[in-house]
Amino acid sequence: MNIIFFGPPGTGKGTIAQYIERKFGYRHISSGDLLRDEVKKKTRIGREIAPFIKEGKLVEDAIIDKIVSKKLKELSKKGFILDGYPRNINQAKLFEKFLAQSRIKVDFVLNIDSKESKIVERLSARRQCVKCKRIFGLDVPPAKDGVCDDCNAELIQREDDKPEVVKYRLELYRVLTKPVLDYFEGRGLLITVDGNEPLQKIFPKVEQIIMGHQK
Ligand code: AP5
Ligand code: MG
Repeated sequence: MNIIFFGPPGTGKGTIAQYIERKFGYRHISSGDLLRDEVKKKTRIGREIAPFIKEGKLVEDAIIDKIVSKKLKELSKKGFILDGYPRNINQAKLFEKFLAQSRIKVDFVLNIDSKESKIVERLSARRQCVKCKRIFGLDVPPAKDGVCDDCNAELIQREDDKPEVVKYRLELYRVLTKPVLDYFEGRGLLITVDGNEPLQKIFPKVEQIIMGHQK
């Protein structure tokens, strides 16, 4: 099963993808996590993109396309949940070309929709493990403050979760990313879930959708 998780910043893409990965084994590929790893490792690309990530701007299409397609080639045999890509119409076209060349089929696109007021509140409380990338939040706090339940590593706040950067990311989403929804809808791939609901309600709904698509 190959799935794309779509939706504005802070809508729950990463949280739900991590849950589904644990449950079904499909590999979670987060374009943001891949880019933040480059920044952390201070690679050539990492140094180039660091200011973009910090300010919430989209990195160049050619860079993200190369990084995501490399990861997809490594992991696509196990099935994947792609989160954060494609994020504009040009990326959607590049992605479609890659899928055709690699003979990979996307089963569906899950659009997770949330209100902006919820998003700002959630993102100011989000913490993420530096090591395993597990996401914590208001509704899913760690057992011990600042420490990951799974691997005991440190939990950090993302630099781009400051309210003014979140506002800018939401604006970019509206202008550049949302049009990709119509693109997927035109291909009959779109399913929408309500991301305003509690995670305990969303998780079983997404499981049902996946089970309904399994052959
Ligand atoms: P990226 O990492 O992809 O960030 P994003 O899309 O803005 O999404 P987030 O990770 O902020 O939100 P999420 O939906 O995963 O929410 P989460 O599950 O964590 O991208 C970061 C940057 O990288 C970009 O700004 C750009 O610079 C660059 N980039 C990445 N991809 C790119 C691309 N394709 N092209 C160009 N540049 C790219 O949840 C958030 C919080 O809310 C958590 O604390 C969680 O616990 C809580 N929560 C979630 N759902 C619920 C719920 N239903 N109820 C209660 N709490 C909830
Ligand atoms: Mg995320």
